[in-house]
Amino acid sequence: MADDFSVKLTEKYYTPDPSYRQNSWIGDYQEAYDEFRKDPEAFWDRVARELHWFSPYAKVREWKYPYARWFVDGKTNITFNCLDRHVQNGLRNKVALIWKGEDDTERIYTYRQLLREVMRVANGLKTLGVEKGDRVCIYMPMVPEQIISMLACARIGAVHSVVFGGFGAAALNSRITGAEAKVVITADVTFRRGKSIPLKHIIEEAIINAPSVEHVVVLRREKTQPVEIHKEMEIDFYDLVHAAGTECEPEVMDAEDPLFILYTSGSTGTPKGIVHTCGGYMVGTYYTTKTVFDIKDNDVYWCTADPGWITGHSYVVYGPLSLGATIVITESPPDYPDPGAYWRMVEEFGVTILYTAPTAIRMFMKLGEQWPDKSNLSSLRILGSVGEPLNPEAFEWYYRVIGKNRCPVVDTWWQTETGMHMVTTMIGERMYPGFAGKSIPGVVADVVDKNGTPVAPGTGGFLAIRDPWPSMMRTVYKDDERYRKYWNTIPNWYAVGDLAVKNKEGYIMVLGRSDDLIVVAGHNIGTAEVESALVSHKAVAEAAVIGKPDEVKGNIIKAFVILRVGHTASDKLKNELLYHVRITLGPIAMPAEIDFVATLPKTRSGKIMRRVLKAKEMGMDPGDISTLDD
Ligand code: PRX
Repeated sequence: MADDFSVKLTEKYYTPDPSYRQNSWIGDYQEAYDEFRKDPEAFWDRVARELHWFSPYAKVREWKYPYARWFVDGKTNITFNCLDRHVQNGLRNKVALIWKGEDDTERIYTYRQLLREVMRVANGLKTLGVEKGDRVCIYMPMVPEQIISMLACARIGAVHSVVFGGFGAAALNSRITGAEAKVVITADVTFRRGKSIPLKHIIEEAIINAPSVEHVVVLRREKTQPVEIHKEMEIDFYDLVHAAGTECEPEVMDAEDPLFILYTSGSTGTPKGIVHTCGGYMVGTYYTTKTVFDIKDNDVYWCTADPGWITGHSYVVYGPLSLGATIVITESPPDYPDPGAYWRMVEEFGVTILYTAPTAIRMFMKLGEQWPDKSNLSSLRILGSVGEPLNPEAFEWYYRVIGKNRCPVVDTWWQTETGMHMVTTMIGERMYPGFAGKSIPGVVADVVDKNGTPVAPGTGGFLAIRDPWPSMMRTVYKDDERYRKYWNTIPNWYAVGDLAVKNKEGYIMVLGRSDDLIVVAGHNIGTAEVESALVSHKAVAEAAVIGKPDEVKGNIIKAFVILRVGHTASDKLKNELLYHVRITLGPIAMPAEIDFVATLPKTRSGKIMRRVLKAKEMGMDPGDISTLDD
């Protein structure tokens, strides 16, 4: 952990039009926050009552440090709140989901249609023997069936574990075996920039050593030539659906039953299976979607994240659907078929709320204003950002070029583990470029030193959270020790792992990770995972990986590799190593740079000092190197 350091902060801010505050769900931030602090349980009780419970909870919260239970003994089903509730309340023909494919195809589901599809897939899963508590792995491209499959699991109480479609075979295998998934739902191909990429070899390899898998359900997208994915285990997605009935009552779930597992990189060792539960997660995502994005009946809401990440779980699927919103999704990358694609979509669908990542914003900045300027963006009213620090330059560009100096920008800080937004600037409040903002009402976050004492404005420290919140993770799947570590590192606080600083008004600026995680284009990558992928290549003896700042992606991965005797450094070997990481972990974990080296800086106990490598790479002072071995 780093020592205290001070940061020079600018004082520039923007004030949104007062109408934002007047008409918002949240109203005055300070009033809402004070009300929460006065009585946190009453605060969350009021929120939870807006949702449907099959039977009410006996208690809002039970907190035995570091374990919390929320909405104790309450029974519900998140899909009832996301679907049936709206169908029954007059929104059956409202558009729930608009999907746009790479080839310009559109698919639209109303709430009634979405419910029907979810029930059919749910019944299909039941015919495969999937029961409440069983784990189902979803490894799919960004198509409506991906979301439908998630909801179908939740319908019957199966625990989904969605794996982002960009992961490779080894990463998929470790996530399937970690969760002991009974069924894998996947597709034959994924489309990327006009090319169809077969998934057959990835799936085959990923399930070879995964004895828990009984069935592989395959969505066929390739029309011309059907590809067989797995001879013995495969079932066609729509054969399964068509054979199943259309009525499927929601499983009655206890608030504390698990809803899903989502794997996230750890700073050491294997990825962590973050466990979220039905009741608290539902309330947390519902509340934050409602207040942070201020969703109203007529909004058209577009979060560009893939449901394979937590942002997709909370703010593509569960949050917006629990509010009965119209959501837009696309499987296209932001600059395909040209850099104007996203802005045409905003105009075409009349998007009112856009939620994306700084890396995309910085890419658009680089491509130039002429692209957004070709489209009419006047439907937009709120802009969101997530995944990494939104640097002041990117904020200014987003605010001016996309928001035309009138849309509030909500920079939302949170994590897979927190399940919901924790720190942001509520619409209607002053915005300080570079600062995410303050704790949202419902959350107590602060910047503290290693003893848990809040630090003064301008002094750097650790971002930390005090007290439980409904959508907090309940454990790390099969590794509760790792869960406890979050609450044991800084006394009385949940340690986030990020460095941060506050300004005089209490706004928090997130500076980056304090551990060995690298945030690349908004995605968390563990140095340990990349290093072990490199070392699994026959030519590599040792490897160390660092994050190197990058103008667009925030960070890129740089690897230092020591070769085994008998292997010689060459560009050919470099490419071989890159390919090896690509097929093992997937393209998102590929190093952008590889250096062949003779030694690596290590402590006397043999631990690689990545901090020293990083300082050297960036021409900076490596700090305390007293533990460095000769
Ligand atoms: O380092 C922070 C960064 O992403 C981490 C969480 O990553 P993940 O669990 O993959 O979730 C990403 C989407 C919520 C954090 O510890 N991070 C996330 N949002 C921000 C951020 N850093 C700065 N500003 C943000 N708004």
